[in-house]
Amino acid sequence: MSAIAPQDAVGSRHAAILGLGVYRPSIVVPNADVVEAIDSSDEWIQQRSGIKQRRHAAPEESVQLMSVAAARDALEQAGIEARQVDAVIVATVTHLLQTPALAPAVATELGCEQPVAFDISAACAGFCHGVGLAADMVRSGSARHVLVIGVERLSDILNRQDRGTAFLFADGAGAVVIGPSETPGIGPTVWGSDGEQFDLIRQREDWRDVVASDDPVMPHLVMQGNAVFRWASFTMAKVGLQAIDRAGLTPDDLDCFVPHQANMRITDAMARAMKLPEGIKIARDVAEQGNTSAASIPLALHRMVEEGDARSGDLALFIAFGAGLAYAAQVVVVP
Ligand SMILES: CC(C)(COP(=O)(O)OP(=O)(O)OC[C@H]1O[C@@H](n2cnc3c(N)ncnc32)[C@H](O)[C@@H]1OP(=O)(O)O)[C@@H](O)C(=O)NCCC(=O)NCCS
Repeated sequence: MSAIAPQDAVGSRHAAILGLGVYRPSIVVPNADVVEAIDSSDEWIQQRSGIKQRRHAAPEESVQLMSVAAARDALEQAGIEARQVDAVIVATVTHLLQTPALAPAVATELGCEQPVAFDISAACAGFCHGVGLAADMVRSGSARHVLVIGVERLSDILNRQDRGTAFLFADGAGAVVIGPSETPGIGPTVWGSDGEQFDLIRQREDWRDVVASDDPVMPHLVMQGNAVFRWASFTMAKVGLQAIDRAGLTPDDLDCFVPHQANMRITDAMARAMKLPEGIKIARDVAEQGNTSAASIPLALHRMVEEGDARSGDLALFIAFGAGLAYAAQVVVVP
């Protein structure tokens, strides 16, 4: 009987992040500009979420434009040419064309030569899903250099009158190049989902309901904020501790904590629950950028590097979580 030959591609023993790039869209929206429509105040928003302002994309700042800009910076830092990229993974929930995916168009605009290119839909956890997948691809030999991009234009699917979401969500892009390394640069990914809580963050209705409606409007994002808050603060701390343990480390070994920038109170609750060491640097990009879902972790890490809070070689814990519910965490070495 015939049999499939064993795979001859041999991967790199280790994978690492080789370069990081971001794109921050041009429109700065301070709390003062959102409070009237939701009968809120700057004080309430800052106290409940830590957000002072967010960034929204201008019409020409499409998900493709932001992805390409972030990816170019990541490639430059990595010292990798676009033609050396074997795979492009885009994590997003706001590429509003059902098909085709955004990744092939991004890859073509970058000048990649027919790489594997696909999108993943894991909402705010998407970027860390991409990092986990890319590291596995590099180690298994199915790709040598993988571009992972998290990009969102959540302002397109926001209901500006919704008190629970209008002040929270924002736009932007971040990208990393993942490739072979002589030492481990990406720890094991701890990931999973809880579909029983499917309703906690979701698009309000599906496209067929929208089309059938007499007064069709964009199906906005809706969220049960309190339940998400409780889940993220407590369950995600356990996931973070598992990721640290699977990397053969303890919390005291970490230099930086870069969680999904959902909300400053969730970040603080996770840090307390994991008993992170006193001196650890914690990403707080949400204050200036808002919650950018799949883009938030690379954006937050980039700010830390720019401000000197993260240095090349530091150990950073990523924890990403969101709609699905879906989550993924890993310890990485800062490029
Ligand atoms: C969204 C969030 C800030 C809302 O805070 P909350 O304390 O849960 O708000 P509640 O809906 O329980 O309402 C509490 C009070 O604030 C008021 N309130 C709600 N939204 C408000 C707003 N935008 N501005 C001012 N007051 C508001 C309510 O009317 C209520 O008032 P009352 O006590 O007089 O009845 C909070 O649930 C949260 O941070 N959730 C996590 C969301 C998140 O990060 N999601 C991203 C995951 S990817």
